[in-house]
Amino acid sequence: MEVIICKDTTEMGEIAARHIIAVLARSTHPVLGVATGSSPLSTYQALARLAKADMADFSNLSAFALDEYIGLSPDDERSYTATIKHTVTEQLGLDPANVHVPEGSARDLVAACQNYEKAIKAAGGVDIQILGIGGNGHIGFNEPSSPFSSRTRVMTLAPRTREDNQRFFHADEAVPTHCLTQGLGTIMEARHLVLLANGEAKAGAIAAAVEGPVSAMCPASVLQFHQQAVVIVDEAAASKLANADYYRHVQKNQLDGWGVADQRG
Ligand code: F6R
Repeated sequence: MEVIICKDTTEMGEIAARHIIAVLARSTHPVLGVATGSSPLSTYQALARLAKADMADFSNLSAFALDEYIGLSPDDERSYTATIKHTVTEQLGLDPANVHVPEGSARDLVAACQNYEKAIKAAGGVDIQILGIGGNGHIGFNEPSSPFSSRTRVMTLAPRTREDNQRFFHADEAVPTHCLTQGLGTIMEARHLVLLANGEAKAGAIAAAVEGPVSAMCPASVLQFHQQAVVIVDEAAASKLANADYYRHVQKNQLDGWGVADQRG
C-alpha cells in the first residue's frame, strides 16, 4: 500500500484531491465514495478549490456515503445526510439527486441496506472511496470484529466511537447507539481507496492498519489486500509507523517516464 506522509492537513487535502480528480477523470459516469468526520474536510475544500479553478468538473458526479446513524431524521443537523449535504454536495456543487446516504430512518432497515447495495451497483460501483479511520481501527462504522466480507448492514457502535463522536453533539445529548454502514466487503469493491488520518490519536490505528497483521480487530488492516489503496497521513498520525523512512524514500524516488505512474491505476 502506498503511504504518503504530509506536513499538515492542507497538504493532505491537496494530494488527496489531485489523486481523486485523476481517478474520476477516467470514468464516464464517475462515482465518489465519501466519508463524514473531520479527516476528509481539507480534501473536500481542496476539491472545491480545484473545481472553482476549472481543474475539475463534478457536474455528472455521483456520491455514496459510508454510513448514517439510526434514529436521527435526515433533517437533523447531526445526521450524516445533513453533514454530507453541507460538506460535500453544496461545496462541490453536486446535483443532490446524485448524492446517496444510507437511510437510517427507514422503517425497514434491512431493506434499506439491500437497496443501498443495489444503488451502488446500479451506478457502476465506486471509482474511488474516501475513508477516515477510527481510533480503534474502524472504517465506515465497521467496528473491530467486523467480518471482512460484510455488506451494508446495521451495526452497534463501539463505546469508544460514541465517545469520540460526542464532540458533534451537545454534552447532554446521547450519541446514537446504532448505525447503518457499508460493510468491509462493500468498501473493498471500490476500485480505489484513499484513507486519510491526522493527529497523534490516530497513530496507533494507522500503524496497526498499515503494518500490523491483517486482523478483524483492526478493520482498516483489510486495506492491505486492496491493490489501489493510498494512505495519506500527517507526521503525527505517521509517528508510530516503523517503516516511515521507507515511505518517505519511496515518495522522493518516484520513477517518471517508465509507465510506472500508471500502476496506481
Ligand atoms: C465517517 C466514518 C468514520 C470516520 C472515522 C474518523 O463517515 O465512516 O469511519 O471516518 O470515525 O472520524 P474523524 O475523521 O472525525 O476522526
